[in-house]
Amino acid sequence: MMDPVVGLWGVEKVFGNGVRALAPVNLAVQPGEFISLIGPSGCGKSTLLKVIASIHAPSAGQVRWWGRDFAHVGSAGHRMAFVFQDPTLMPWACMEDNVRLPLDLERMPATTAGPLVRDALEQVGLGHVLRHYPAQLSGGMKMRASIARALVTQPDLLLMDEPFGALDEFSRNRLDEEMARLCYEKGLTTLFVTHSLYEAVFLSSRVIVMAANPGRIFGEYHIDPAIRRDETFRLSDDFAHMCRDLTQMLTEATHATFSGGA
Ligand SMILES: Nc1ncnc2c1ncn2[C@@H]1O[C@H](COP(=O)(O)OP(=O)(O)OP(=O)(O)O)[C@@H](O)[C@H]1O
Ligand SMILES: [Mg+2]
Repeated sequence: MMDPVVGLWGVEKVFGNGVRALAPVNLAVQPGEFISLIGPSGCGKSTLLKVIASIHAPSAGQVRWWGRDFAHVGSAGHRMAFVFQDPTLMPWACMEDNVRLPLDLERMPATTAGPLVRDALEQVGLGHVLRHYPAQLSGGMKMRASIARALVTQPDLLLMDEPFGALDEFSRNRLDEEMARLCYEKGLTTLFVTHSLYEAVFLSSRVIVMAANPGRIFGEYHIDPAIRRDETFRLSDDFAHMCRDLTQMLTEATHATFSGGA
């Protein structure tokens, strides 16, 4: 069998202050999956993403990327990009320069980087504002730029932590549709943290529901990846049913008491 994109075995995270952010977590992320992580505040969603990004080292257990250790991440076919809730753009740099940043850090020559940057901005619908500065753009456009900055590295795994949490519902829905198109068309493996169950259902092929104290995986919910993620789906009875099922699972997760582990 093929190695998972990311595999976690018995991963725990206890912070210095004694908080058990992750009780043993086991997870295998398969190529092309769009996984959402949902769960109450403090259940360890961001911590899990940061362990996968190797920003945090696990306190116990093992993480493997494409079946290997972290040293191989970044090589061709094994690239990872992270999009945070805040777009974190450089205010003094135009869109093109902002999006080129990760390529500049790789010391890619400008002639090679230029077309990649413009292509990434095109993909998120910002091809017309290459020379604009962040202050001239709306919140949704800044978020698109932040996504372009992740896409420009041509990631094989995209990690996103509540990227659209600060946006109005209309902008969020539109970006969700575009994200779905980008990720499903490319078969891009994606891990997406959200507080919105509707967003999770709309985007995902698998929704992982987490519970808190200690943070752990409570259950998961599968959605046919072949479904077209568009307005028709959003308005369908199927969508409503899935949201209801997931609401129920989330309620159970919120009230669940922990029985495993010390
Ligand atoms: N660097 C840290 N040091 C100490 N405790 C931390 C640290 N980061 C997170 N925690 C704690 O670990 C637990 C999980 O936090 P985490 O940020 O992963 O939750 P979350 O599910 O992302 O929550 P939210 O939905 O509010 O973003 C919380 O109790 C949090 O206070
Ligand atoms: Mg978080």
